[in-house]
Amino acid sequence: MSNFISELERRRTFAIVAHPDAGKTTLTEKLLLFGGAIQTAGAVKSNKIKKSTVSDFMDIERQRGISVSTSVMGFEYRDLQINILDTPGHEDFAEDTYRTLTAVDSAVVVVDVANGVEKQTEKLTKVCRMRDTPMIFFVNKLDREGLDGFDLLDEIEQKLDVKVRPLSWPIGMGQRFKGVYNLFEKKLVLFHSHGKQEEEEIIVFKDLASPDLEKHIGDTPARELREEVEMIEAVYPEFKREDYLNGEICPVFFGSAVNNFGVKEMLDCFVEIAPTPLPRIAEERLVHPEEDKMTGFVFKIFANMDPKHRDRIAFLRICSGKFERNTNYRHIRLGRDFKFPAPTMFMASKKTLLEEAYPGDVVGLYDSGNFKIGDTLTEGEDLHFKGIPAFSPEQFRYVENADPLKTKQFAKGLDQLMDEGVAQMFTRKSDGRRIIGTVGQLQFEVIQHRLESEYNAKCVYEAVNLHKACWVHSDDKKAMEEFLDRRKRDIAIDSEGATVFLAETAWVLQTAQENFPKIEFRFTSE
Ligand code: G4P
Repeated sequence: MSNFISELERRRTFAIVAHPDAGKTTLTEKLLLFGGAIQTAGAVKSNKIKKSTVSDFMDIERQRGISVSTSVMGFEYRDLQINILDTPGHEDFAEDTYRTLTAVDSAVVVVDVANGVEKQTEKLTKVCRMRDTPMIFFVNKLDREGLDGFDLLDEIEQKLDVKVRPLSWPIGMGQRFKGVYNLFEKKLVLFHSHGKQEEEEIIVFKDLASPDLEKHIGDTPARELREEVEMIEAVYPEFKREDYLNGEICPVFFGSAVNNFGVKEMLDCFVEIAPTPLPRIAEERLVHPEEDKMTGFVFKIFANMDPKHRDRIAFLRICSGKFERNTNYRHIRLGRDFKFPAPTMFMASKKTLLEEAYPGDVVGLYDSGNFKIGDTLTEGEDLHFKGIPAFSPEQFRYVENADPLKTKQFAKGLDQLMDEGVAQMFTRKSDGRRIIGTVGQLQFEVIQHRLESEYNAKCVYEAVNLHKACWVHSDDKKAMEEFLDRRKRDIAIDSEGATVFLAETAWVLQTAQENFPKIEFRFTSE
């Protein structure tokens, strides 16, 4: 096997997604500990204000205690190169998370056993389902009382519209939590807690009928475990890796991230089953990772990692071929070649200069303003990767320059923040006013703060009464013209020049849809 193919097959790139507080940060940290990427607990940022740690790059992130940005953490485990793409915990930054999900090959979804499926769990898994991204569930906090295991699986299936298959099963919960039975490897993993010290004891246990089970976990838990495992085998289909890879079945693990319990079971299964870098769809064709020409797309732009410099870092997901330092690549949107003398890779706490990268890797490219989210780099082929749509925002405000002496800085700042995907901007055709659309309240503050601190510009917001912005399209030119003319007041363009309908209320949107059946109203830009 060529070196290129073996490097490619070593890659596993995934994201951990969860409703805030379910334990994503804690789980990430434990995975990095297993990989030896960090040495101490507490080295990974939490989205809490009190902690300041590795992936905590931005000032605003620390100030607000919210994980605003997405970063990448790489580590090696059992000869594999594992890349975890971190996603912001706060729901106002969900769009950032959606975009990150376009750059992964699989996802681990953390669910709090007490809270079950929560709002963000629903939204994020929906995005995974849209793309058939394979998902593994990790049910966390088994050291606390929570929902019954079967009820929780039902809830996951019903609310998230997925099929699940438990691959580990908890023995008790809360005070009575004794461990998990690893159904994937037929092992009993017992949890011993001595004050602050927790450890796992692993017993290979192929035959649950053996009376030894009683010796290890006691009579009642042994009986319950046998009944429950019997029920699992009867109710849930046998686990097949293809079903997981096709996004049809989601394996479920149980554990307690903070106690580092059940995490290794999941990781060991993950490395066995998780997909190697998958092909990516471009408008022109399907791009396979094994192709020898380098292709990749930018899914994230990170501003001002170092406040002393004004540069940004664009995160490029490599889709095919080998990426090399100091080599010319074509920036398709600009039609120009660029080379990168100092591409970086993120190995948990450290940024390292890299010479080459492979499909599945995420490379940080220093950028002085040439990249936008969704940009493609190739060795010359005209390709446009799909799947990085903008989502119809939910909150809107007019934005105005508050300092007439800083008009230029204001315009540049706004443009660059929009390129980074912080929010979307629409310019209304009838009066030229700029409207910022976001998915959450917080982005308005982020924009204001960053305009001031990074661009020395000030903005003010004004209320605007809007319900939705949606992209409009029609193959019928005449119908489109008529629509644009009749709804003149409600038409805007986005920063890509696409036409957008601004609906004041749900009713306005509905009537527009009824009155103009030839017009397609889209809720994502793609
Ligand atoms: P997030 O990134 O998904 O938002 O969650 P994070 O890991 O920050 O975890 C949220 C809280 O849940 C933290 O407590 C964390 O310690 C706790 N936690 C994580 N895993 C477990 C678990 O298995 N069992 C229990 N009982 N708790 C867990 P916190 O009090 O908010 O912060 P901290 O001071 O303890 O870090």
